[in-house]
Amino acid sequence: MIKSVVITGASSGIGKAIAHEFAGRGANLVLMARRLELLEQLAGEIRGQHPGVDVHCVALDVAKVEEIAPALEQARSLLGQLDCVIANAGITAVNKTGAGDFSKDQRVIQVNLIGGMATIDAAVRIFRAQGKGTAVGISSVSAFKGIPGSAAYSASKAGFSNYLDCTRMELQKYGINVIAVHPGFVKTEIAPNMDKLPFVITAEKAAKAIVDGIVKGNSNIIVPAMPWSVLGRVLPFMPDSVIRKAF
Ligand SMILES: NC(=O)c1ccc[n+]([C@@H]2O[C@H](COP(=O)([O-])OP(=O)(O)OC[C@H]3O[C@@H](n4cnc5c(N)ncnc54)[C@H](OP(=O)(O)O)[C@@H]3O)[C@@H](O)[C@H]2O)c1
Repeated sequence: MIKSVVITGASSGIGKAIAHEFAGRGANLVLMARRLELLEQLAGEIRGQHPGVDVHCVALDVAKVEEIAPALEQARSLLGQLDCVIANAGITAVNKTGAGDFSKDQRVIQVNLIGGMATIDAAVRIFRAQGKGTAVGISSVSAFKGIPGSAAYSASKAGFSNYLDCTRMELQKYGINVIAVHPGFVKTEIAPNMDKLPFVITAEKAAKAIVDGIVKGNSNIIVPAMPWSVLGRVLPFMPDSVIRKAF
């Protein structure tokens, strides 16, 4: 039973919707992101809707990896025990490969891949001591097949999915579950014109499917399941010309 949850990147989009969804199921929460004022606002909404839920906010920039383990320790002492940690914080950046601004790509890798891995690593340190826990990483369907124009983003998510796959196999014997989440397109602040992308869903719909999958202990959650669970298998074999046209 999942009763205590930490979510990074909880100030907007999918993370915020997951916070509402877990609160609705009675879980206590620690919300993390850089924009503390948005977290406090969300915590206020949750306390109003679910007075029985214990909710705390901790400012965290996952690009500062040395701050992640202390933030999760703080969350553990606030909630007593951590049942589930969700490494959701992420960014995207449009960058033309070779156009002279590699720092944008580097930032995407730092936040999405290094920040995500450091969050899972710090969570697992706590779970090993507890003898149980669920670590969740929010990856992307771009891990299955990269999106032209989003090379660093796609690489960050492919790397993160691979990391989650390895750690799941490694940690099962310690009673620790590792879950990879692969969302398709979800309407959030992360990218403009999300409406124009195929099979787009709301953050609330994504969050419900994600939390359902976490509670069931599914190791690979694809949202929405249709068509992405089928496309995820087919896309890697499609010719480049089809992929270029689709995006
Ligand atoms: N929307 C989609 O279509 C889609 C599809 C596949 C995967 N995803 C993934 O889903 C996750 C959530 O994205 P979203 O769509 O919900 O976007 P979003 O609305 O922009 O939310 C991103 C969240 O990450 C936080 N964040 C960004 N940089 C951070 C940092 N350095 N340290 C801590 N928190 C940071 C932001 O909070 P602060 O700015 O307050 O720090 C915000 O709460 C990401 O990992 C994204 O890659 C999204």
